[in-house]
Amino acid sequence: PLSHLQTRPMSDPTHSMKVLVIGSGGREHSLCWKIGKSPLVSEVICAPGNAGIGDVARIAPVEATDLDGLIALAEAERPGLVLIGPEDPLAAGLADRMRDAGFRVFGPGAEGAQLEASKAFSKDLIERHRIPTATARSFDRSGQAKGYLEGCTTWPQVVKADGLAAGKGVYICQDLAEAKVAVDAIMEEGRHGVAGSKILIEEFLVGEEASVFAITDGDAVLVLEPVQDHKQAYDGDEGPNTGGMGVYSPVPELSKRIYKQIEQHVLLPSIHMLRREKIAFRGVLFIGLMLTEGGPRVIEYNVRFGDPECQALVRRLKSDIVPILIATADGTLSEIESPEWDADTCVGVVAAAEGYPEAPRKGDEISGLEEAAAVEGVEIFHAGTKLHRNLDGHEEVVTNGGRVLTITAMGATTDLARERAYEAYGKIRYDGKFCRTDIGRRREARKETTSQA
Ligand code: AMP
Ligand code: GLY
Repeated sequence: PLSHLQTRPMSDPTHSMKVLVIGSGGREHSLCWKIGKSPLVSEVICAPGNAGIGDVARIAPVEATDLDGLIALAEAERPGLVLIGPEDPLAAGLADRMRDAGFRVFGPGAEGAQLEASKAFSKDLIERHRIPTATARSFDRSGQAKGYLEGCTTWPQVVKADGLAAGKGVYICQDLAEAKVAVDAIMEEGRHGVAGSKILIEEFLVGEEASVFAITDGDAVLVLEPVQDHKQAYDGDEGPNTGGMGVYSPVPELSKRIYKQIEQHVLLPSIHMLRREKIAFRGVLFIGLMLTEGGPRVIEYNVRFGDPECQALVRRLKSDIVPILIATADGTLSEIESPEWDADTCVGVVAAAEGYPEAPRKGDEISGLEEAAAVEGVEIFHAGTKLHRNLDGHEEVVTNGGRVLTITAMGATTDLARERAYEAYGKIRYDGKFCRTDIGRRREARKETTSQA
């Protein structure tokens, strides 16, 4: 199935391809780590990377939002494959520009990225294609939005900024007063900048959240293994929403039957929607869902790997990831054999910095990384870290963001994987370190907190 590799114009018959990865999070560290293991790859380059990515890739100091700089970097390095990790450069059209410049790219163009970058855009498509979702209305004037809210008879209502707001643009409002405050914060006070020039007011869905990840070239679909993050900052799903405080895969509470149902009622219709709308889409479609009594319904689309979900997926992926990425970029995904997955469980604990998610402290020296990485089954991926040269010229790793590290561990059981991940976590030291202690046992932990209350 890989014979097409030898005939593509940009392929290198000596199997010494460079791969350029854009981004600087735990997601990109795990992707660089996995891509670097491929026999097809001679070198991984990452822009802008972080302190840990430097161990598995050559760092190029170009920001992920500097589109001209990234094109110039690609022109200089001539990578055989470019992978774009985060949503911002995708929404800004980096994939289109790279493709126009002749590069092979994993990641959707600006139009496809609108699925994540505009909730009004995606809601309109979802509704037109009759994919199950929460009913919603969109507004570009706060007065109209408030007028609509005054007529609402059921509460809560969900008020959302239309654009990219780093997961912070969603307000679950218990009553009219709260909802008006949210509308003003988004539209009048500009709390999310231009992302809030439009809003959605959405029906509140009741159920368990789940997600599904698929790689698609716009035609063929490769459904990835079930994986689940923990969104709230503190144990028992308490506290503010974050980008993700931990992850586990597989997901025992998600039965095969429900996963099939998600595939059939949500995922495949979504791919069909892309095809019908003629949106060229070569990358990851990540669907956030609510499992309601009436079946799975879409909460949101994302157009990239989740972080920290990606870290758990690449640890469980036994096959070479590079042929999958290339086939997606080339539009030949249907020729690829199904990949092999490790049957063991991966648990990933995020080591965060005090103050996350509101105002994380930065610049604290991190130690114990080597000892922690030596724990059996453990692999540590950096997110908010950077190298800092101290006064005696010695380089040290310091914290540089709210989510500092993802500490992943494999184990034959969830308990074993958890034990290893937390053992490694315990060996890492920096001021202000914190984590959730219930990663991988979301439901049990929630029950315990509820029964204590
Ligand atoms: P989003 O950024 O759209 O994924 O929303 C962030 C979080 O808000 C989701 O993970 C859900 O927990 C919650 N949420 C969003 N939309 C709804 C909804 N319609 N009903 C209930 N919860 C929602
Ligand atoms: N962990 C959720 C996300 O990447 O959006």
